[in-house]
Order: sequence, then structure tokens, then C-alpha cells
Amino acid sequence: MTTSAETPTAAVTLKSRHLLGIDGLEADEISLILDTAEAMKEIGGRAIKKVPTLRGRTVVNLFFEPSTRTRTSFEIAEKRLSADTLSIATATSSVTKGESLLDTVRNIEAMSPDMIVMRHSSSGAPHLLARMCRSTIINAGDGMHEHPTQALLDAFTIREHKRRLAGLKIAIVGDLMHSRVLRSNVALLNTMRANVWACAPATLMPSHIAEFGVHATTSVDEAVEGADVVMMLRIQHERMHGHYIPSVREYFTLFGLTPERMRRAAADAIVMHPGPMNRGVEIDSAVADGPFSVILEQVSNGVAVRMAVLYLLSGRDSMDPLDVH
Ligand code: CP
Repeated sequence: MTTSAETPTAAVTLKSRHLLGIDGLEADEISLILDTAEAMKEIGGRAIKKVPTLRGRTVVNLFFEPSTRTRTSFEIAEKRLSADTLSIATATSSVTKGESLLDTVRNIEAMSPDMIVMRHSSSGAPHLLARMCRSTIINAGDGMHEHPTQALLDAFTIREHKRRLAGLKIAIVGDLMHSRVLRSNVALLNTMRANVWACAPATLMPSHIAEFGVHATTSVDEAVEGADVVMMLRIQHERMHGHYIPSVREYFTLFGLTPERMRRAAADAIVMHPGPMNRGVEIDSAVADGPFSVILEQVSNGVAVRMAVLYLLSGRDSMDPLDVH
């Protein structure tokens, strides 16, 4: 049996017992999660995709906003680690009767879960819970603030293709103003010393973009030129209160990623999208389904990355995650 002491990042542990955001994680903690996810990915390739690492632990998935990828991959990750797991959709919970977030979580905590994975429309909701709760809190997306496991799976996917993050030109294009994926990716990629470009129409550019430590531009051609990675973000109509783009057709013409635009990128560039995609709005189907696209790989890698996060936060870091006995 190998032990975790034999892994390259063995001396490193996560400093917090929660994962609330990428902001605050150090480079060695990010590398630890990505290295651990590599080991977890191997489990997903086995005939029996299950290890007993979290046997006896209870994980509650509490999603106050819709989700396909994040919720499903957390559930699969928890099951692969043998945790007892349940998911609560707010549409069928007592939230619909007016119960507050804090009361909802206090009642769930009364049943002694070990971890709560939470998505909420309010920025900072998981931080509030982390102060009030005994359970470990994992942020699965809070408002326009952070989506840490998305940035981690994005970094994992980039690293698989490019073997590094430092020095890569990474263009992030789309509705930046409303994007928690942008904020988590910028925090992670800056920490790992990538060269981040952020591109949006002026109406969808965060007003404080100068503080992000990125190259900001309204020109897609400039952002994509020579890029190693092009990450497209969707227009978030559900968070918009007002008119930010003249029309979908005009947005696609000016900012959509087409095969012609991709010719400006590096010859071995990859195209990413966290989903859900709006085909024909921010991305042409010929690109989304084309040879540069790693969009479905991102989804696959989400399971391994979430297994790594659950495992590292469980405090069982002396256990070999690959030990099935
Ligand atoms: N990328 C992402 O968060 O997708 P879902 O909203 O489907 O979870």
C-alpha cells in the first residue's frame, strides 16, 4: 500500500476546514488539490468505481439555485468515496414556506452531517454558514462571488493538456460582470502565475476590473490572439436587471467564438466553457463540438476534483485514497 506521505505534496495540508473560495488558497494548497484529483481520477477508470474513504461520513448537498453539472458531480464524487449522501432541492423543501437559510441549515445540522455542499444566489452565504455551523462548508457557487470547485476543475483540465499553468495566455471572454466563474478563475490563475486576459463588452465588464490583475479588453481578437486557452462564459440573463446587450445576434457577431476567431489562438489552443452553454450566443456549435473543445472533459474532471476536495476536507489525510481495503 502506498501512503499519502509518498505523494509530492505530502507535507502540505489545506489550512481551512471549509472551501469557501479560491481567494485565500495558496499555490501549494491548489497544487495539493490538483495532485490529489489525479489520484482520484484513476478511481473513476476502474471497473468498481468506489473506495471506502468517506465511509460513515454524511454529506448534504443543499442547492438553492439550479444546477446540472455541479450537483451531479458532487453526488457522484460522494458516492465514489462511500459517503452517505443526500440532496435537498429547495423547490421541495420548507424554504418554499418561508424558512430562512440559517434556520434551514440549523435544522439540517441537528441531524449531524459532516459536510454541507451549498449553492446560493447570495454572495457570501457560505461564509455566513461557516461562521455559524459545526459542519464543513463547501461553496458550490455563491451569487456573483465565487465558484471554487469550477476553477479547480478548469485548472485541472488545463494542466492535463498543457502540463503547467504558469506563463500560459488564458483568455476569458463573455459576461464577466455577473460571473463567479471569472472571479474564482482569476484568483486561481493569478496565484499560479498564468497570464490572464479578460474580455467583455464595456457594459458587462466589472467596474473594478483594474483591481483584478488581468489584461482587460473589449476586443475578442486581441484577447484570443496567441491564446493557449480560450474560456467562454455565458450571458447570465437571470442575474441581469436591465439591458446590457443590444441583441443576441449582435453579441454573437461581436463576441461569439467562431472557427474564424479561433484561428488567432495558438495552434494547440483549447476551448473551455463551464456550462450551461448558449450555442449561437457566446459560442458557435462548430467550436463547442470541434477539435479544440475540452468542454466535456471539464465535466468529467469535475468528479475527480470534487472527490479530492471532499477527501482533503474530511481530515482523513493520513488515509491513502486509493486503498480499497
Ligand atoms: N458549471 C456549472 O456550475 O454548471 P451547473 O450550473 O450546471 O452546476
